Amino acid sequence: MKIGIGNDHSALELKAEIIGFLKEKGHEVIDYGTNSTESCDYPVYGEKVARAVVSGEVEQGILICGTGLGISLAANKVRGIRAAVCSEPYTARMARQHNNCNILAFGARVVGAELAKMIVDTWLSTEFEGGRHQRRVDMIMAIEENK
Ligand code: RB5
Repeated sequence: MKIGIGNDHSALELKAEIIGFLKEKGHEVIDYGTNSTESCDYPVYGEKVARAVVSGEVEQGILICGTGLGISLAANKVRGIRAAVCSEPYTARMARQHNNCNILAFGARVVGAELAKMIVDTWLSTEFEGGRHQRRVDMIMAIEENK
């Protein structure tokens, strides 16, 4: 799968681990930055990855900041994005299975590297279930369209 990844200054080390993990699993990764430890503004990277997902440049996105919150909030402002903060694998599974989320977010100050890898692995191996969940996802997206 082609995956876009983005982060702020708090998450450089964890991002490197995750990129290595994804490549080992055979995924193609596009890194949208930051690649500096200098303090930066997470909305920039949240938006970059979100736009790459909606344009089809990548199939899924992964965003990492200190908590996963700010960067996912920014991504969720882009039409078509459903970004979920997941700090454990159960939520990651449900975010795909029931909510058909297209961006996974987590916090470098919240989860360790091994837990993050489990979350990513669960996320990428879970399919959307459709059915009654499709209707609910459509309802979420209709809010965006002001319907
Ligand atoms: C940066 O200090 C921190 O605010 C950011 O990484 C993130 O946790 C925001 O939601």
